[in-house]
Amino acid sequence: MANQRFRPLIWCRKWSKRDQAIAAAATGFAIFIITFSVFSDSRTKPSAQQPLNPSSTPLWVPLTLLRNATHRGAFCLDGSLPAYHLQKGFGSGSSNWVLHIEGGGWCDTILSCSSRKRTELGSSRYMDGQVRFSGILSQELSQNPDFFNWNKVKIRYCDGASFAGHPESEFKNGTELFFRGQLIWETLMEELLSIGLSNARQALLSGCSAGGLATLIHCDNFRKILPKYATVKCLADAGFFLNVKDVAGHRTIETFYQDVVHLQAVAKSLDKDCVARLEPSKCFFPQEFIKNIKTPIFLVHPAYDFWQIKHIFVPDESDPHGSWFKCKLNIDNCNPSQMEVLHGYRHSLLKVLSEFQQNKEGGMFINSCYVHCQTWMTETWHSSNSPRINSKTIAESVGDWFFNRQVAKQIDCPYPCNPTCYNIGFT
Ligand SMILES: *[C@@H]1O[C@H](CO)[C@@H](O)[C@H](O)[C@H]1NC(C)=O
Ligand SMILES: *[C@@H]1O[C@H](CO)[C@@H](O)[C@H](O)[C@H]1NC(C)=O
Repeated sequence: MANQRFRPLIWCRKWSKRDQAIAAAATGFAIFIITFSVFSDSRTKPSAQQPLNPSSTPLWVPLTLLRNATHRGAFCLDGSLPAYHLQKGFGSGSSNWVLHIEGGGWCDTILSCSSRKRTELGSSRYMDGQVRFSGILSQELSQNPDFFNWNKVKIRYCDGASFAGHPESEFKNGTELFFRGQLIWETLMEELLSIGLSNARQALLSGCSAGGLATLIHCDNFRKILPKYATVKCLADAGFFLNVKDVAGHRTIETFYQDVVHLQAVAKSLDKDCVARLEPSKCFFPQEFIKNIKTPIFLVHPAYDFWQIKHIFVPDESDPHGSWFKCKLNIDNCNPSQMEVLHGYRHSLLKVLSEFQQNKEGGMFINSCYVHCQTWMTETWHSSNSPRINSKTIAESVGDWFFNRQVAKQIDCPYPCNPTCYNIGFT
């Protein structure tokens, strides 16, 4: 395919150890420093196509371009076709579906959206031809006990606005940027419905970071397009972006979201009740609309969300002397007063979530780790040394909630009390 560019190989296989998982995250971290973006799966791919054998591991899943996007006009930022990776379910999972929307921050200006056009977050021309499915997308019973044999879809993110942009705000003057997030969502759902999703018995829409936010935004729509008899739920991983002032008292994230929402005319995709009540960009914050979502929701969220602390709570501009630099690289480096500030961030999160905690159909896993997304890596999702609360892994808690096995509302004690944490760290 002409628009699948293959990059040189970097071999770093066998992701069975904690150190290597952290190293993988560190690769992502380098990207954050340059752009205001959230990490996506940065693992590399093998040089040759490997046959898709359901019993072999690791499993590489090829990229599928969304063909119908051409006549629907559902394009990535640069005008290329959106894409996804699909692995068919098997055995008792054949009519169940788990979807995972990848993350990658947002673009808030013509300039930042234009630079995104030259990356996999704005164009399928730069996406890997195949990716490895792990964590919630793993097909191994031992790594993914409840969803391993479901149909699995990894949705690639290339619109820069959590699948919520609208073409009305595109420029008519030669600035070539497509704001088609909502159309991509609709066209993709149409395609998935046509290949079996319309007969789903059980379905879980999930996503990490900006994809976790997209999950919350589109959750009720996902419920609506599936059969009435189906069990449908949504899982947002690190998608609960908190509206807080940063350490210098600036409204960094609020201003940023205002720019994203205005640039891409996102308001039309946001919760109607919220938009009627508030300035639309505020409705991009889950805390303003989560109570209006009717479909059952699970939140996986680190109380010391590494990305939010780095970009929202202590952005470089609000730390001109760099006194937070070492602390942001490694939470163990934070001095007592910085730790107090971070505990305050956790406190704000828990306060905002106190109402959701009463939701009978909801679930949560709020661990006290310094990390960002935790559902797509086997190391954090479900393995012998994964993070746990009350001895449950994230996968076990999500399964307890999805199948109504037991109430799953796990809130960890404050950092550093939990020795099972994966903390992002750089030496
Ligand atoms: C198009 O219009 C936008 C918004 O007014 C402006 O920022 C941009 O520079 C214009 N682009 C060109 C190529 O004139
Ligand atoms: C593609 O679009 C056409 C026309 O809108 C529609 O009839 C068809 O079902 C679509 N196919 C898929 C796979 O979504």
